[in-house]
Amino acid sequence: MWNEIDQHMQHWIREAGERIRDAFQTKLKIETKSSPSDLVTNVDREIEQFFIERIRRTYPTHRILGEEGLGDTLEALDGVVWIIDPIDGTMNFVHQQRHFAISVGVFQDGVGMLGYIYDVAFDELYYAQKGKGAFLNGTPLPPLEKTTLDRSIISLNATWVTENRRIDPNVLAPLVKKARGTRSYGSAALEMAYIAAGKLDAYMTLRLSPWDIAGGMVIVQEVGGVVTNLYGEPLNMIEKSSVFVSKPGLHEEILAIIQR
Ligand code: IPD
Ligand code: CA
Ligand code: CA
Ligand code: CA
Repeated sequence: MWNEIDQHMQHWIREAGERIRDAFQTKLKIETKSSPSDLVTNVDREIEQFFIERIRRTYPTHRILGEEGLGDTLEALDGVVWIIDPIDGTMNFVHQQRHFAISVGVFQDGVGMLGYIYDVAFDELYYAQKGKGAFLNGTPLPPLEKTTLDRSIISLNATWVTENRRIDPNVLAPLVKKARGTRSYGSAALEMAYIAAGKLDAYMTLRLSPWDIAGGMVIVQEVGGVVTNLYGEPLNMIEKSSVFVSKPGLHEEILAIIQR
């Protein structure tokens, strides 16, 4: 069953990507949601609808959790659930036309079975099937090697080391000082894909939703990366949570600093 779903999804996600690239030539309808930085466009909604139509037609018993709310209302993850972020990094999509991705995870009874992150501007599809490895455009991604903080590039938003309402800025500041470098790409999904591909070593943030991480979780875990909340606990894929994704070894080193 998973191979068959994967075959459909490989086509659907590339077709969705093409639709997004076509939309670069059109005028976007941009709206704000909870705040001026919380954006949604007509393309976010159209792409979510695109996946929902195909999934419902092909797999009528599957359920769908999508960021823009066009899928089902779910209280639990029993059965097969598709967790969809039609555009992760909408701000980048609107301002830069790059560094955004389609992110999809397919879960069975709460376990991630398939993960997809499609970097639309660069035509790079990261995907994984549980137990079968992770791939970038068909090339297997090698297992992640252990590393240390002083040799690492870590990804985090500058918000978390300035005054904010979720974490004391002094908790993560020591990481910034000790790491080889820091980055912030503005797409949680791409940040997870970069960890899986060895381009980044760790990523941490204080509040994400299941659709931001569902695809990335399957991909990162398949290459031996660690995905928890910021305090090292397992993620509950039906709630918002802090997220900490890292290469092995580095995860323990960073947790010890956070918990000091
Ligand atoms: C956002 C991106 C961003 C993260 C935000 C998310 P969206 O997703 O992943 O990197 O910092 O918290 O909401 O809204 O562009 O799909
Ligand atoms: Ca959003
Ligand atoms: Ca998102
Ligand atoms: Ca989104």
